[in-house]
Amino acid sequence: MADLCSHRWTILAVPLVCLTLVGSLLVHWPTLLNTFQRPKLLPNPNPILKSTITFNIANVTTIESSTIPVNATTTTVLIWYWAFGFNQGIRENVCKDRFGITNCILTDDRSLFSKADFIVFHNRELITGQQRLPLHLPRPQNQGWVWFSMESPANNGNLRPFAGKFNYTMSYRRDADFFMPYGWLASRNVAPGMTVEDFIPKKKSHLACWIVSNYARHHERTRVYNRLKQVINVEVYGGAVNRSLAREHVLPTISHCYFYLAFENSKFQDYITEKLWKNALQGGAVPVVLGPPRKNYEAMIPKDSFIHVDDFESEEELGQFLKELAGDRERYASYFKWKLNYTAAETSNWFVEPQCRICTKLTTLQRPKVYRDLQSWEWK
Ligand SMILES: *[C@@H]1O[C@H](CO)[C@@H](O)[C@H](O)[C@H]1NC(C)=O
Ligand SMILES: *[C@@H]1O[C@H](CO)[C@@H](O)[C@H](O)[C@H]1NC(C)=O
Ligand SMILES: *[C@@H]1O[C@H](CO)[C@@H](O)[C@H](O)[C@H]1NC(C)=O
Ligand SMILES: *[C@@H]1O[C@H](CO)[C@@H](O)[C@H](O)[C@H]1NC(C)=O
Repeated sequence: MADLCSHRWTILAVPLVCLTLVGSLLVHWPTLLNTFQRPKLLPNPNPILKSTITFNIANVTTIESSTIPVNATTTTVLIWYWAFGFNQGIRENVCKDRFGITNCILTDDRSLFSKADFIVFHNRELITGQQRLPLHLPRPQNQGWVWFSMESPANNGNLRPFAGKFNYTMSYRRDADFFMPYGWLASRNVAPGMTVEDFIPKKKSHLACWIVSNYARHHERTRVYNRLKQVINVEVYGGAVNRSLAREHVLPTISHCYFYLAFENSKFQDYITEKLWKNALQGGAVPVVLGPPRKNYEAMIPKDSFIHVDDFESEEELGQFLKELAGDRERYASYFKWKLNYTAAETSNWFVEPQCRICTKLTTLQRPKVYRDLQSWEWK
């Protein structure tokens, strides 16, 4: 997420990311996707796409967003405070207007506390002390308190004080009660006769590119980069090297690169961010990923669509492989096969969309439920 600061993706993502860094303190596979049971929460923000969303290529799980069941009663979701202070100026009908979710009231009006079915608390403000849980108010038995974070455990602070306080979690993790991935592959049909080559940006002038704003010596990605650049040329952009890209230049710049280093700031289960979904996959470069194990990526994207740092004994070997691959057109093109069936999508608005999607998840939600040890859940 860090890299966003420098190149300004979206008005919404930037504050989330940048403030996270400023305030920065500091893996097992529970569910294969074929056993994944939270389809109703999957986002489908792009109406142009067919309304099917697929997370697993091998065991295709498709969901028709139009079949989201609607409860007869209205659900009220209260946002106790806006993440990073970014008031979205929502109206009561926002869930229906933007996502077609009916019988769902999203509000930031604290006077609705006693009526709210769910209250969402963004973690950052809690751990910095800017906000507090309303423990002094009489809490209705059926009310669900939702802990929300899109950060990895490395940047979520100490969660021990929240033991026994939250009923649900909302995060990029697939085992969260409300799963909100950074991105996903959405099905599509391409025009007959189109080939993989039609989806590969034509002008490739750089072998490998990397955008980085949060450059820390202790990051594993920094060590990998330092060794890799001795083998191949890596074009580096971003605040860390005083070479920030304006938002509109990010994807065009990446499109000129054969490979994009989608290196996460920390390695945690499911922590696969816009570095993959947006920068690499939408930018038209083959992702070289550093993050959770290969298997974790394979649950999200086809196994032949990316290169994993762990696949190589050394950066030397990785660099040599990238050079060879860039010179072998047919093999290079094979990494884009997924484009014939999918397009890379990302969530439209983290401040509103997952909150609305709470209302689509009611029937499968465990209740009552309490996170007696949120810290252990976070680090398991
Ligand atoms: C697909 O699902 C089947 C049964 O549900 C399982 O045996 C198989 O290992 C899965 N394949 C992959 C690639 O996940
Ligand atoms: C950063 O880049 C800008 C524009 O290229 C330049 O004016 C400025 O001096 C640079 N700052 C540093 C610290 O190198
Ligand atoms: C993927 O797209 C190609 C080209 O349109 C088509 O021939 C193929 O059947 C599709 N595969 C799947 C699994 O949908
Ligand atoms: C949420 O947790 C509280 C406190 O532990 C508990 O009293 C309440 O019943 C729980 N509510 C739900 C809906 O699980």
